[in-house]
Amino acid sequence: MNESKKKFCVGLGVSGGIAAYKAIEVLRLLQKSDCEVQVAMTKHATEFIQPLTFRALTDSYVLVDDYEPNNPDPIAHINFSQNIDLLLIVPATANILAKLANGIADDFLTSTYLASTAPVMVAPAMNVTMWEHPTTQRNIETLKKDGVHFVEPVSGELACKTVGTGKLEDVENITSQALKLLNQRENNTSIQDLTGESFLITVGGTREAIDPVRFISNHSSGKMGFALAKAAKHRGAEVTVVKGKTSVEPPEDIKVVNGISAEEMCQGVMKELPNATVFVGAAAVADYRPKEIVTSKIKKEKKDSLTLELEKTPDILSTVSKNRHEGLMVIGFAAETNNVIEYAKSKMQKKNLDMVVANDITKKGAGFNTDTNIATIITQENQLDLPLMSKRDLANKILNEVIKLRN
Ligand code: PMT
Repeated sequence: MNESKKKFCVGLGVSGGIAAYKAIEVLRLLQKSDCEVQVAMTKHATEFIQPLTFRALTDSYVLVDDYEPNNPDPIAHINFSQNIDLLLIVPATANILAKLANGIADDFLTSTYLASTAPVMVAPAMNVTMWEHPTTQRNIETLKKDGVHFVEPVSGELACKTVGTGKLEDVENITSQALKLLNQRENNTSIQDLTGESFLITVGGTREAIDPVRFISNHSSGKMGFALAKAAKHRGAEVTVVKGKTSVEPPEDIKVVNGISAEEMCQGVMKELPNATVFVGAAAVADYRPKEIVTSKIKKEKKDSLTLELEKTPDILSTVSKNRHEGLMVIGFAAETNNVIEYAKSKMQKKNLDMVVANDITKKGAGFNTDTNIATIITQENQLDLPLMSKRDLANKILNEVIKLRN
């Protein structure tokens, strides 16, 4: 077991090629560089090297298949993928590149790739003809577009005795590129460029009571709002969140005010607003609430249907915008299912916003209760269409736009 917390946690994926044994050297070099390493192998990789070798070196169970009877963790690919700072695949065969490029998740390593929001680096190794094949090159292009980092193979004599490109890059070079990426990401997010700003962020979903046991709500988990809170805090800002119902815990070191219904959230926001320099409405606030809250549990006997009369809730974002003090930046989100950009722009005008972040919640990996999002950041001058990325990375992109607006 690791006695002290390591600087980074690397998920080392090993796929089935003759160079699989070199993954051991990469593992040792990473461990020497203050990384905790957890290993995921494909079944074919185990033909070249035993999981026991990695188990002995990492003191952790090496997963090959989620469905193995001995697997200590039934949702291992989710837990593994959420706890790593980098997924590094050494060696990456033509087969694994094809699977990753096409979203095939038929084993532990490929499922981890899909479930992870950590950056991914691959070091391919294969026969030169396989490397040069148009299918492999097409898959590489796709993966590069998806943001996968490549440590390109080098030219030399290959295991099959042919000479050409396909040889695994030196293990020292693979390790140093992995460490460079890890350090770059850490440095990027530790710039204190928001010092002096005071963020007030609404987070999560509101609950509008029908009676003492029932309510109207939505699927917001709080992940997007908390990602923003965490990133802003990390970059030197003061942060207060007014939180509805969330399925995840707020980050440490930020002020948390509870506001479960739209009314309570609005009151919490208006109380905190004088201290804020940036307001972000990331919460999914119910637009309507029951006109009357029934004080005792509504009984269903002799009732085949039930009609609720709803009234509008306070629009927190508009209220903030109308009461804005000098220097306050007001940012809204728009969760839409169609005409996403058009509706988002119209919200920006109607609510007099400096920025709106539009998410098309019909897209896979976007919107409610995911660790990722796909968004367009719209300001008066600019429109930034972003691909699928972790909510943490999106939070940093939004904060970069805040900095640009301030300048
Ligand atoms: O919490 P997660 O699971 O991570 O999901 C993230 C998210 C999908 C909730 C988030 O990315 C998002 O899009 N939040 C806004 C959702 C929403 O309610 O959108 P809207 O288009 O209905 O509202 C537009 C804006 O007005 C939002 O900034 C909202 O906070 C605000 N609003 C809406 C109604 C209301 N009564 N008061 C408000 O302040």
